[in-house]
Amino acid sequence: MSYIIDGKALSQKIRAEIKEEAAKLKSQKGKIPGLAVIIAGDDSASKIYVKNKILACHEAGFFSVHKEFDAGADKEALIKAILEFNRDDNIDGILVQLPLPKHLNPDEILPFIDVRKDVDGLSAFQQGLLLQGTPDLVSCTPNGVIELIKSAGVEIAGKNAVVIGRSNMVGKPMAMLLLRENATVTICHSKTKNLGEIVLSADIVVAAIGRAKFITADMIKQGAVVIDVGMNRLDGKLCGDVDYDAVKEKASAITPVPGGVGPMTITMLLANTLKSFKRKF
Ligand code: GUN
Repeated sequence: MSYIIDGKALSQKIRAEIKEEAAKLKSQKGKIPGLAVIIAGDDSASKIYVKNKILACHEAGFFSVHKEFDAGADKEALIKAILEFNRDDNIDGILVQLPLPKHLNPDEILPFIDVRKDVDGLSAFQQGLLLQGTPDLVSCTPNGVIELIKSAGVEIAGKNAVVIGRSNMVGKPMAMLLLRENATVTICHSKTKNLGEIVLSADIVVAAIGRAKFITADMIKQGAVVIDVGMNRLDGKLCGDVDYDAVKEKASAITPVPGGVGPMTITMLLANTLKSFKRKF
């Protein structure tokens, strides 16, 4: 049996701290942090994520604004909205919810976000800082994963960490963060040979593949720490990239889906927005 890492509880604790700090700054400076969210199209999952981000802002005492575009919006309209938020002194963080409708290329839109307001940590500037070992605003999901691992009392230094997935949003920054914590890091992806063997050597496994129950118990070393970033629908039910019921019998600690990594992503978004806001003073 493993220790179940409760992302909801950790998230609530950190959000309470963020709320307290924001309230203190409000009383001292008369200002509150502000987040702007841009969404285009009708993706139902994206709409729920954005609603939850806005709600989390309000609960933390932040200001938030969201700008919705229909599925046929052109890139100029989104860029114009970004440039306005860049200039707006009440806005400390800007994010464009992904995925965008197919005709919109994020690489042609996201670079217009002021890098110091890039609370998603997706810009070349923020990712470059992380790569150099001087992070500023770090991608929310991987940042949350590090907090989850530490909350379970796991020592990361010297461990073999295997990250499955190489996206700019999760896999790559995740690997850099684990490296910063002095883990020995391997990144696996769709073309990796002997993936099962590599994962089996891991003390820490971070699964960010996007395929339901892809990581099975036979791939997991007894006592490994398993972090599941996946969010998939299988037979109408939400499930992760890890075959949770079987893997939890072998792992020393594991995150559930839902209630693991998910809540931490929005919490780290609040943390990044607060960090950007504090630079004003
Ligand atoms: N879509 C799914 N997760 C995220 C996220 O963390 N940030 C953005 N911008 N889009 C997402």
